[in-house]
Amino acid sequence: MTTPTTPSPLSLGVATASYQIEGAVVEDGRGPSIWDTFTAEPGRVVGGDDGAEACDSYHRVEDDIALIRGLGVDAYRFSLAWPRILPEGRGRVETRGLDYYERLVDGLLEAGVEPVATLYHWDLPQALEDEGGWLARSTAEAFVEYAGVVHQRLGDRVTSWATHNEPWCAAYLGYAAGVHAPGRREGAAGHRAAHHLLLGHAWAREALPGAHVGIVLNLAPVWPETPEAADVADGVDAIRNRVWLGPLVDGAYDERLLAIAPVLSDPELVRPGDLDAIKGSADWLGINYYTPIRPALGTGEGEHPEQGAYPGVERLDLVVREPRTDIGWEVEPRGLEELLVETHRRTGLPLVITENGAACADAEVVDGRVEDTDRIDYLRGHLAAVDRAREAGADVRGYFVWTLLDNFEWAEGYAKKFGLVHVDRSSPSLTRTPKASYHWFAEQVAAPAQGRGAAGLLTP
Ligand code: FCB
Repeated sequence: MTTPTTPSPLSLGVATASYQIEGAVVEDGRGPSIWDTFTAEPGRVVGGDDGAEACDSYHRVEDDIALIRGLGVDAYRFSLAWPRILPEGRGRVETRGLDYYERLVDGLLEAGVEPVATLYHWDLPQALEDEGGWLARSTAEAFVEYAGVVHQRLGDRVTSWATHNEPWCAAYLGYAAGVHAPGRREGAAGHRAAHHLLLGHAWAREALPGAHVGIVLNLAPVWPETPEAADVADGVDAIRNRVWLGPLVDGAYDERLLAIAPVLSDPELVRPGDLDAIKGSADWLGINYYTPIRPALGTGEGEHPEQGAYPGVERLDLVVREPRTDIGWEVEPRGLEELLVETHRRTGLPLVITENGAACADAEVVDGRVEDTDRIDYLRGHLAAVDRAREAGADVRGYFVWTLLDNFEWAEGYAKKFGLVHVDRSSPSLTRTPKASYHWFAEQVAAPAQGRGAAGLLTP
């Protein structure tokens, strides 16, 4: 019989990402990023939208901190824009970029909110992409330099750090499916990028002394749609989940993955010592969860936007069941519960849900209110799933809602809205209006059941 243990307190927070909210892309010496380039290419983003203005958070940092404070949350997860700090990707440091994040961190601390920093949420300096981007090992080396520069300025005030956000998207949506920047459709190049992202993560530890260093993965439960789909589902699981967990936990890519992705056995790519460096390099795991994956055995030519993101898996089609959010993702809280329990079993690491939320076709602002009850239902269902996973023994330390503000949703532009706060894009003032879900989440944070009072996300 196992003795029941008291779960660690659960920190509650909200998350954002630099390119999605900051705007000010040519200000204070910021260099171009791959998303500036990608969004300028016709047909890449719905509506031709880009992040040039976004939510203008670069100029409204005080307003946004006030909104975060108003939620009463324990923590705020944000990302730093590499090209604001090292405009050419390496070498020359732009201190005005660092000043901005310092103002943010100090403001959060003053508001009693723990800053949780993500170093890479996809805005790679274009100068590095010009040298091969994540297909080049030298990008992982440049990432370590960047991590060191940031940590030197903020490491005395920020203790919870994530290296990458969803490297699966950076690698496979960016270099295989081509639906994210840099928009390359080169199949197996996705695997090459994945290895370099893992290396960058592992090496960056050295540059973050004394920190709790994690990596944020969009792991997903993979549920074959029919028994015949079991094999393609295993291939999907290999590329979505095991390509990260294998090296991080066991120091190895597994046999099936190597069969799908022979490049991962190429000694020019995976050099002696690489896998040893990656093994054990995460102190905690961030999990971004929105929806499960349901592979079917089909033609391999389905319409799903992620269709090209599993290179080497033949005859895969992706099925999406109802109900769906406004971005077309199935709503299934059981997926989160299963993922947490399973990932805890697999890794033994402290887990943080670093993103979870819903795109809703919100009602507009009427008399100062936005009644987004469907978002509240989504969040309520998923928080209950977190409770069940914790009761089942999963070591979950935090839950962050994606996201604070309606923002630039990558290839979907501004049309898909995930915010707890409405941003009025029709007026130059970009007026922020907290939605009903903002007030609801503030009530959850204040509820004694959440076991607050943590000293920090990873130091209860
Ligand atoms: C995740 C991203 C985040 C946001 C949400 C909806 O994949 O990390 O930036 O776009 O999806």
